[in-house]
Amino acid sequence: MLPFISLSLFFSLFLLFFHFHGTSASKGVAVEYMFPPVSATSLLYIDSGGMFLTSRKGDFQAVIYKPGTQESRYYLSVLHAPTKTQIWTANRNRPIPDRSSMVNLTANGLSVEFSNGTVLWSTPPLKAPVSALRLLDTGNLVLLDVANNSLWESFNYPSDTLVSGQLLPAGSYLSSSVSSDSDLSQGDYRLDVTAADALLNWSNATYWRLSNDKNSVKDWDAPVAYMTTNDSGLYLQESKGTIVFQISLPTAQFRIVQLRSDGRFQIISYQTISSSTSMDHVFMAPTSNCDLPLACGSLGLCSLHLNSSSCTCPPQFISQSGGCTAGNDVSLATNTSCGSSTFSYMFVGLGVTYFANKYRSPIASARNISNCRDLCSSNCSCSGYFFDISSQSCFFLQHPLGSLTNANTSESSNAMAYVKTQGSYSQHKFTLENNVVPIVVPSVVASFLVIVSGLACFMWRYSGIL
Ligand SMILES: *[C@@H]1O[C@H](CO)[C@@H](O)[C@H](O)[C@H]1NC(C)=O
Ligand SMILES: *[C@@H]1O[C@H](CO)[C@@H](O)[C@H](O)[C@H]1NC(C)=O
Ligand SMILES: *[C@@H]1O[C@H](CO)[C@@H](O)[C@H](O)[C@H]1NC(C)=O
Ligand SMILES: *[C@@H]1O[C@H](CO)[C@@H](O)[C@H](O)[C@H]1NC(C)=O
Ligand SMILES: *[C@@H]1O[C@H](CO)[C@@H](O)[C@H](O)[C@H]1NC(C)=O
Ligand SMILES: *[C@@H]1O[C@H](CO)[C@@H](O)[C@H](O)[C@H]1NC(C)=O
Ligand SMILES: *[C@@H]1O[C@H](CO)[C@@H](O)[C@H](O)[C@H]1NC(C)=O
Ligand SMILES: *[C@@H]1O[C@H](CO)[C@@H](O)[C@H](O)[C@H]1NC(C)=O
Ligand SMILES: *[C@@H]1O[C@H](CO)[C@@H](O)[C@H](O)[C@H]1NC(C)=O
Ligand SMILES: *[C@@H]1O[C@H](CO)[C@@H](O)[C@H](O)[C@H]1NC(C)=O
Ligand SMILES: *[C@@H]1O[C@H](CO)[C@@H](O)[C@H](O)[C@H]1NC(C)=O
Repeated sequence: MLPFISLSLFFSLFLLFFHFHGTSASKGVAVEYMFPPVSATSLLYIDSGGMFLTSRKGDFQAVIYKPGTQESRYYLSVLHAPTKTQIWTANRNRPIPDRSSMVNLTANGLSVEFSNGTVLWSTPPLKAPVSALRLLDTGNLVLLDVANNSLWESFNYPSDTLVSGQLLPAGSYLSSSVSSDSDLSQGDYRLDVTAADALLNWSNATYWRLSNDKNSVKDWDAPVAYMTTNDSGLYLQESKGTIVFQISLPTAQFRIVQLRSDGRFQIISYQTISSSTSMDHVFMAPTSNCDLPLACGSLGLCSLHLNSSSCTCPPQFISQSGGCTAGNDVSLATNTSCGSSTFSYMFVGLGVTYFANKYRSPIASARNISNCRDLCSSNCSCSGYFFDISSQSCFFLQHPLGSLTNANTSESSNAMAYVKTQGSYSQHKFTLENNVVPIVVPSVVASFLVIVSGLACFMWRYSGIL
């Protein structure tokens, strides 16, 4: 009886507080459900660390919070409470700049707005009026209609994270944050689930495929419908639930699958959903640092050692803004300079390869190295080329440029890398002008002379007759 009374007392106080606006007093935190209309600023929840709603068992919290030590970016997020990991963020690309902005729950949905009413983020138009907001014990934040049907759920709008039980359908993706401890806006890496596979992409270049991972097992040949994780592993499954690919993982009740801001795909496992410390086993893809697109910045050279990797610049390159660039007098060719400029090539190294080469097929029409170079010269989006003598394969480098890898193993030491530069001394320009000018000018002059002499001849004849 006593718990019941205190609970209802708590709720009445809670509801009373809701209808008070502009107080700086901290409000009670709702459990599992919240009913519209509610408008909350982080000021009101300052004592609860921005938390305004918790799941029934308390493992998840809906919060208005600012990650890290910065003061200018607040987010509406769902956190895994024991580890304070954000598993979903509403307004990642439009953070709340100050504490006076608010989160509104109305019959129309959930929104984040400035105090003047300008909307930063909101749920899409819904089929029916909202009667409640519910935070489930799975971490899913759901808007319900009057019959308790789901109108919208955060699990369908993933940010950079997937948790146990959540499905990531084919055609959708996780995208990294610029920095997971301060700036949650969308970064440059993506985990795409396709009908055939799951892949990591950076600027349209693939740097990992689940099907190629040494830990993955193919079970069935069928189109993939979604990716998910549970107690026993990570799965790509067909629509009826048949496993297409699987990666077995040590048994764990809860997992946080995340695409990190450095481009790594990581699975952290927890004994139970309430554990605050993770298990020792962490799945990472790609495993080698040198397989990350920007392991050493743009055009930096990544070398693998026994347990680690190191970064240097290729010979004749200088270090610049976290990566490397050609020396003082040389400028690298950009796709925008194509057409008007002439090019030459700078040797980058022997045994040097590129993160993306593993996951694409070579340029089929290139038969030899001079062929490879000529094709690159005539292709505006080609910024350099790799040629492997032993396999006679040609690959192009394309903007934006990622890191290079020192292959360092005997079988790949036959790969040569060149970057395109804007040279002032290209042979192509000279041959073009030297050939075109002498041929064109005389022929114009010649035809002029032919016409003039023809005319003169004609006039002479007629004048002769007259
Ligand atoms: C959000 O709440 C504020 C304060 O209650 C209100 O003035 C505003 O109209 C609400 N916005 C929406 C979209 O309902
Ligand atoms: C509302 O406030 C924000 C931030 O102060 C400002 O950028 C925006 O222009 C304002 N909107 C209106 C309609 O005044
Ligand atoms: C919706 O769910 C709540 C809480 O479980 C319950 O109290 C209510 O009766 C449900 N409403 C309907 C229409 O099922
Ligand atoms: C990726 O490819 C798409 C379609 O081919 C293109 O529209 C987009 O600009 C590309 N993105 C980058 C960063 O190259
Ligand atoms: C990922 O990269 C591959 C090339 O390896 C490209 O075909 C695909 O369209 C890219 N996907 C996205 C979503 O950019
Ligand atoms: C996890 O999901 C897979 C695929 O549906 C299933 O085969 C496996 O039994 C599940 N594991 C547990 C522990 O439920
Ligand atoms: C690469 O070469 C360097 C020096 O030649 C050597 O110290 C290093 O162990 C090599 N790394 C691998 C992975 O073979
Ligand atoms: C490399 O890693 C192995 C096992 O992970 C460890 O035993 C060894 O001490 C490490 N070596 C160095 C040089 O760090
Ligand atoms: C390279 O291949 C092209 C086209 O097949 C051919 O015309 C050319 O002679 C070859 N060059 C060399 C050096 O083999
Ligand atoms: C340039 O090369 C890319 C491959 O790197 C290719 O997709 C594209 O079609 C080529 N463009 C032309 C005009 O040949
Ligand atoms: C040119 O390269 C830049 C990156 O350096 C890229 O953002 C842009 O989309 C590229 N433009 C074209 C036409 O490929």
